[in-house]
Amino acid sequence: MTAQIIDGKQVAAEMRAELKDEAAKLKKKGIVPGLGVILVGEDPASQSYVTAKERACEDIGLYSDDNRLAANTSQADLMALVEKMNNDPRINGILVQLPLPKGLNEAEVLLAIDPAKDVDGFHPMNVGKMVVGEKAFLPCTPHGVIQLLIRSGVKLEGAEVAIVGRSNIVGKPLANMLIQKNATGNATVTVCHTRTKNLAEHTRRADIVIAAAGRPNTVTADMVKDGVVVIDVGVNRVEDATKKRGYRLVGDVDFEAVKEKASFITPVPGGVGPMTITMLLYNTVESAKRAAGLAK
Ligand code: GUN
Repeated sequence: MTAQIIDGKQVAAEMRAELKDEAAKLKKKGIVPGLGVILVGEDPASQSYVTAKERACEDIGLYSDDNRLAANTSQADLMALVEKMNNDPRINGILVQLPLPKGLNEAEVLLAIDPAKDVDGFHPMNVGKMVVGEKAFLPCTPHGVIQLLIRSGVKLEGAEVAIVGRSNIVGKPLANMLIQKNATGNATVTVCHTRTKNLAEHTRRADIVIAAAGRPNTVTADMVKDGVVVIDVGVNRVEDATKKRGYRLVGDVDFEAVKEKASFITPVPGGVGPMTITMLLYNTVESAKRAAGLAK
């Protein structure tokens, strides 16, 4: 079997077109959803994420307030900026790009963000709501993964899912979302991690394998069954002298070999990546609707 490639760029473009329409309708009511972005330091990967977020806001007609701060910014200054955004009615979503440079207290910053503007879904209040199945801002990457599966027609109900990776940003929230008793859940989930005894035993049993370990070749062809659905969340830089920039991006999955066994697979780049920003835009529009009393 050769897998159908799940085109994240295409799905993201469809969703962004829907959001653009929605933003245009809101504009007629005098509402422009706004995203406040804070990037501290000069990490190149974070810089390119943030630039992509800013461009995406512009593309669909959202207001964006971009703040790029020096790596030696103090905790107090960062907290003050978050507070300013909490009180700014033009801003419906606040995004503090992670990881923060060493010396800054990430947990304290995330806790300071108004949960009603927490479009990343990282505030403990939103995490708690998500876990108990209440309406909350869902974290963007896991939400993007679920949208890719659903929009590709993959059945989640009753599916055996193996997630490889237990990060707070992907593995843990994704597991929680997939076990919810709702249309985007009802799966049976195993979360594997660096201390899992026999990773392949779990991935071979799975109907859906989601790789979010942050390491190339974590999932190889011998570790999956025929017809498996594979979602690759990994974004890893590997040296490549043939490229002008000296590296290329690969995921956590041995794509070329696994695609010969899978029924569906996401590429890297062009799979999950474009969905993360799309779901951030989705949450920001949703937040603006809630603030205006227009949300369902
Ligand atoms: N760093 C890597 N992914 C993310 C994300 O989804 N949100 C934020 N704020 N930082 C990140």
